[in-house]
This record gives sequence, C-alpha cells and structure tokens, in this order.
Amino acid sequence: MKKVLSFVLALTLIAGMFGVVAAQDASGELEIFSWWTGGGEEAGLNALIARFSELYPNVTIVNSAVAGGSGVNARAVLTTRMLGGDPPDTFQVHAGEELNALWVNAGLMEPLNNIYEANGWLEQFPQGLLDLITDEEGNIYVVPVNIHRSNVLWYVPSKLEEWGVTVPADWNEFVTTTCPTLQAAGVTPLTVGENWTQAHLWESVALAVLGEEAYNGLWTGATSWTSPEAVAVWDTFAQVLACANDDMNALSWQDASKRVADGEAAFNIMGDWAAGYFLVDLALTPGEGFGWAASPGTDGVFMMLSDTFGQPKGAPNAAAVQAWLGFLGTGEAQDLFNPVKGSLPANTTADITNGELYNAYFQSAYEDWTTNAIVGSQAHGAVAPPAFSNGFASIIASFQADRDSATASANTAVLALQTGMMQ
Ligand code: GAL
Repeated sequence: MKKVLSFVLALTLIAGMFGVVAAQDASGELEIFSWWTGGGEEAGLNALIARFSELYPNVTIVNSAVAGGSGVNARAVLTTRMLGGDPPDTFQVHAGEELNALWVNAGLMEPLNNIYEANGWLEQFPQGLLDLITDEEGNIYVVPVNIHRSNVLWYVPSKLEEWGVTVPADWNEFVTTTCPTLQAAGVTPLTVGENWTQAHLWESVALAVLGEEAYNGLWTGATSWTSPEAVAVWDTFAQVLACANDDMNALSWQDASKRVADGEAAFNIMGDWAAGYFLVDLALTPGEGFGWAASPGTDGVFMMLSDTFGQPKGAPNAAAVQAWLGFLGTGEAQDLFNPVKGSLPANTTADITNGELYNAYFQSAYEDWTTNAIVGSQAHGAVAPPAFSNGFASIIASFQADRDSATASANTAVLALQTGMMQ
C-alpha cells in the first residue's frame, strides 16, 4: 500500500511539475480573466461557462472580466496581477506577439502540449495559427477559441441605397466620391471611436496603402517606417479621419457601430465582433440589418487575430484550468462560442459549414479565411509586441490631434527601433 501511495505521490509531483493535473478530478474555484463583459462577447463566454459547468459540476467559475474594448483596461490589471505573483487561473490573450513577447518571453506560462496531444488538436488547428502560439522548442502555450477578422467595413445596405452611395472599392474612391456625397446629404461618412479603434482603423488603411507584402514588412523591419509609402499611410489616414465623426474619443466601439445600425452614419471599420454585436445586442439580420465588405482596398486579404486562453505558472487551480482548456479547444465549445461572438471557429472539426449555426456573415468570412492571403493584426496583438502597441497608442493620439504625417512616421520608426522590431 505504501508503495502504491508513494508511486501515486511521485506521479502527482511529476505531473504538477509540468502543470498537468488530472482534469477529470477538477473541483474548487476557477477564475477566468477576460475583457468580455457585454453583448455577444459576454454571451459567448457565458455559453462556454454554462457547458463547462455541466461537464465539471464540482468547479465553481469566478468570472473576473474587466470591461473595456480590445482589453485596454484588462491588460493593465492582468499585468499588475501577473507581476505581483497573483495570476488568475486562466486569462484571455491574443495569439502572436501579445502572448510571446510578454508572457512566454518572461517564462510565466505553462506549456500545454499534453492537452493538444491528448485531444489530437495538432491535426485540428491550422498550422499558421499553431505557429503563432508555439515557441522555438515546440512548446504550445495557449488554446485558441476563435479567428477574428480585423479588416471589415460595416454598413446598412438599404441606407447606402437611400443616400446614393455604394461600397467604396478603395480609400481614394471613399475620400473623393463617397465621403463628399454623404457629407452633402448631412450623413457622417465614417464612425470611429476611442483611441484603440483609431489604431484599428489605421491598420486597415495601412494594409490598403502598402499592400500585403509591405504591410507585413512593417513588423519585420523590411518596410521602413519613414519610407514614402509608410508616410503615405498617415496621409491617407488623415484624409479618412477628416470624413469621420468629431466626437470619436468619446465613443466605445459599440457606440460607433450603433450609429451605423441606426442610420446616423454610413460606414464603420471594426473587427467582426461587430457582427456579434449586430446579431446579439441589436438582433439584426445579416445582409439586411447590416452588410459587410473587406475594408476599402483590402479585398483578397484577411487580417486575422485570435483570442486564446492559457495557464499562467502558479495558477491556483491547475486541475480546473486543464479541464477548462481541454474543453475550450473542442469543436463543441467552439460551436457554442463563435456564432454569438461573431468569429470563426479555430478548430477545423467545428461545424462551420452548418448554415443554421453559422449564418451568411460567417459563411462569407469562412470563404475569405480559407481562400485569401492572411496577414496579422497589430491592434490585436498578432504581429507587434505590447511595448510597441502601447507606444503606438500615444502616436495615434498625437496624430488624431495634429495630423502631422512626418512626425508620426519618425516617432513610429523610433518606437519600432526601441521595441526590437527592426532586426
Ligand atoms: C479584441 C478581441 C475581440 C473583442 C474586441 C473588442 O481585441 O480580440 O474578441 O473582444 O477586442 O472588445
């Protein structure tokens, strides 16, 4: 008996060393940290929690979501907690540099390869996505729940008809034709919200002006931030901002989307969590209550980001986190979450071709995801480290006030250098 006990103890110790604790025995509290506090975002999280609670009735969920679009507030709270030795059990983080440059680089995350291997996920998640969450030694650190698209233009089809405009093919058409026509009719051409939504708009403009290859080059050092092309991004961005609402800094992303749905403004550029907002919060029908297109000049390119969850080192309830993460990556979980969240499932065994579950918006996004060129979003952590993104927020704020392209380009070049992006 003693021998058996010490064998079990040894196994537990070894498992504990690797963060692997029997998930089926999970009990106690599981603290889930995210920034999903309203509408489709919260509905998606709640759908996951509800099913997980059926599967693991002995686990009590503590939902520690911190409000604020794109995680602007949540990330600050998370950083304080992580550095203070008080990590939540599991937290939301974007695939790519937001995860790698900060938490993985600091050695604060548990590898999750055991969960991937046990569930056959290495064959079920797209390789390009796995590459974003795997280190040089082959350790995988998080479980993606979705694929979101950043470069989407939203509008109401019947309203465009009423105002006599069509979806602009590129920014030149928008600035020279669409925008003046709408302004003459007393309609706001484009709605924009607070600082991070301006950075979100910026990356769509950058992709359009630079094209796929030079856009990618911004994040590797291959495209100079002070090149004429990069300066031209800021010039176009200024022209686009001149067609937007003046009160942008006072609006959340939902406020900005709502003005389009309400017929007060013609267009908005936002990630497809806006689809979740239109579907869940406003109960609109895709194609009627809201329409969509690739943001001007980016047709054929899908700018992606992915929400993921991981297990920080020292997570108080490792067994419950393992159970949670083992559930999140399944096709079942992804089919509960994504149709309300507005995103595509990341696991390829999910039921995406089921048109009852995934409406016309998702079918069109999926077609693009599987046929377009893929690039990563800076505003949502895929391609630039948090240090860059934090500094870029200040550059966007200055530009929003002074519209000075030369200064913005020079400051971004310095920032890229300081944050290690020019190698
Ligand atoms: C993004 C996140 C999305 C959504 C959005 C708005 O960063 O990836 O899932 O939450 O912010 O809050």
